[in-house]
Amino acid sequence: MSALPENIHTTFDRILQRSDKEALLNQHGIVIWMTGLSGSGKTTIAVALEKLLAEKGVLTQVLDGDNIRSGINNNLSFSEADRKENIRRIAEVSKLFVECGVVTLNCFVSPTKDIRQQAKDVLGDDMVEVFVNTPFEECEKRDVKGLYAKARAGEIKNFTGLDAPFEAPENPFLNIETVGRSVESCAQEIFNAVMPLIKQ
Ligand code: ADX
Repeated sequence: MSALPENIHTTFDRILQRSDKEALLNQHGIVIWMTGLSGSGKTTIAVALEKLLAEKGVLTQVLDGDNIRSGINNNLSFSEADRKENIRRIAEVSKLFVECGVVTLNCFVSPTKDIRQQAKDVLGDDMVEVFVNTPFEECEKRDVKGLYAKARAGEIKNFTGLDAPFEAPENPFLNIETVGRSVESCAQEIFNAVMPLIKQ
């Protein structure tokens, strides 16, 4: 953490502790960080996963790129620097949730190892990385938001996988290959893997 400015006096030590809040909720806060191309299915899977977790009484918060970029991060572009700032703020916001015992389901392209490491530096072991592994060709074929067509036509610059990089994680907590699988099956696989971390 960088040094605090002179006139900032944090109160972290006086507020109710994370362990108190986790006991209240009967769950352990973690960040399930989903990375993958635009249209790979991150948010769709997160929504299904959230339902499964809710059925077991787990309190969650879905954070996704389009939502966050329409609010707190509406001043950021898709340049490399702005994507870094996007992820930095999201990691800090996720930390607030996790400190409250909430399980956050993060759905962000978060395209480079460097960017994801930045999140990891903020969240440490509270973050598990899930690669929503849908190949570029498949995302382009699905093109749910019509963005691939626009990017191909040159109407969107710095589009991930086209004229901006995507680096697949080398060693993710989970590698979810979505092609030929249902949303429910992908969500169930993540659910099975994260439940032991949430209900310890
Ligand atoms: S990130 O790269 O900074 O992590 P983020 O997850 O917040 O991206 O936002 C990605 C979403 O923004 C995509 O799902 C898509 O709907 C939209 N989008 C708009 N322009 C781009 C672009 N140039 N590259 C990728 N996604 C884009």
